[in-house]
Amino acid sequence: MRCTGEWRAIGGDVRAQETRILPSGPAAIAEAARLIAAGLPVAMPTETVYGLAADATSGEAVARIYEAKGRPFFNPLIVHVRDIAQASQFASFGEEARALAARHWPGPLTLVLKLREAGKIASLVTAGLPTIAVRAPAHPAMRDLIAATGRPLAAPSANASGRISPTRAEHVLASLGGRIPLIVDGGATAHGLESTIVAADGGRLRLLRPGPIDLGLPLERGGTVEAPGQLESHYAPAKPVRLEALVAGEDEWLIGFGTIAGHASLSPSGDLVEAAAALFERLHEAEASPQKRIAVAPVPDQGLGAAINDRLRRAAAPGRYAP
Ligand code: TXA
Ligand code: MG
Repeated sequence: MRCTGEWRAIGGDVRAQETRILPSGPAAIAEAARLIAAGLPVAMPTETVYGLAADATSGEAVARIYEAKGRPFFNPLIVHVRDIAQASQFASFGEEARALAARHWPGPLTLVLKLREAGKIASLVTAGLPTIAVRAPAHPAMRDLIAATGRPLAAPSANASGRISPTRAEHVLASLGGRIPLIVDGGATAHGLESTIVAADGGRLRLLRPGPIDLGLPLERGGTVEAPGQLESHYAPAKPVRLEALVAGEDEWLIGFGTIAGHASLSPSGDLVEAAAALFERLHEAEASPQKRIAVAPVPDQGLGAAINDRLRRAAAPGRYAP
């Protein structure tokens, strides 16, 4: 198959390409691992729903997940690992979290844990939050792919934005066909329902999304985590943010894009995949700068640009910073 070079964003849109479907097995896993190493997303079966997996350590690979899904915003993603040892490289396990993982992993339980500083996870995966969602899936194809790539894999459900989660390869094809290079077909998923999500990041355990594993916890109020506005803690810089800025004003740190250089740039070449991958890093950097204010150059509102602008508008909304 020809793919890597051609499978990229053009003007914020994904160029139509042949989507291959391979039956789950060693050949499919080898091809999936090759594509993941090339920074592309691949649809994989898990025991819950099909996931659209990409290398969680590469911001650009993760940006391509959003691009393929056509998602108009960035939501933090679940990182899939083999086991507690691999997750411990970037997430902190308290006693309760360790006990839950020991009991339910591999399986349909996602834990939201404190992100470890030293970790190498792309900031687009956590959407800039200080926590990270991790799970060790039980499905052998996904487990084999994590082993073959040697990488933690970020994977939201493999459906186009606004569609329901896919439980068969055919569902993935109907929704993402022509937008991703490969679907690994493992038949119908066992649970057909997304994993249970529990926050175990210090303090009491909180159920954020009910799922196949019932821990007897009440659902946290406002705990539906599907919509980004409903996330309890949303990353927002602790400084006022001005959008559509062409030049830096007095005491402003300007985040550039394309021909507007700024103090730092989302993407000097105006590439939206690169800009999405860099977004949260640039915001954190701006927050730590000596300037009291943040300004951001205009970003075109098409394709991934819509998701970037959604986050920027949230960051700029009045009241999001401590005055
Ligand atoms: O079963 C599943 O969990 C499937 C398979 C593919 O593993 N994945 C899945 O991912 O459902 P997704 O992206 O559709 O849902 C992940 C949910 C989102 O609602 C997101 O807001 C939440 O997890 N989430 C991720 N990181 C979080 C964090 N640090 N804090 C709170 N919620 C988080
Ligand atoms: Mg989903």
